[in-house]
Amino acid sequence: MNWSKYIRQVHRWLSIIFTVTVIANFVAMGVGTPPPWVVYSPLPPLFLLLFTGLYMFALPYTAARRSAASIGE
Ligand code: HEM
Repeated sequence: MNWSKYIRQVHRWLSIIFTVTVIANFVAMGVGTPPPWVVYSPLPPLFLLLFTGLYMFALPYTAARRSAASIGE
């Protein structure tokens, strides 16, 4: 399996889920006081976004190191 492609897809869909939970917060606040589970619902996707995002951030550097190790090809 191509891990970096898979991680990018996960990050992409998590970003949609995160966005929906943020919009849900605005809607809930417009209606009244939102229940705690709505207030905290963006945190789990944001937490996962952080790790998949940091993984993607590191990719070019680890790829550069891998290809530098095989100079002369
Ligand atoms: C929480 C910390 C986050 C980190 C460290 C992070 C980091 C990254 C990185 C490194 C990339 C790849 C950029 C590249 O192509 O070189 C990326 C792509 C992306 N990020 Fe994040 N991100 C974070 C949160 C978010 C959030 C909150 C959203 C939106 C709600 C988001 C939406 C996206 C999208 C849509 C892409 C493009 C995905 C694709 O190419 O298919 N990210 N992010």
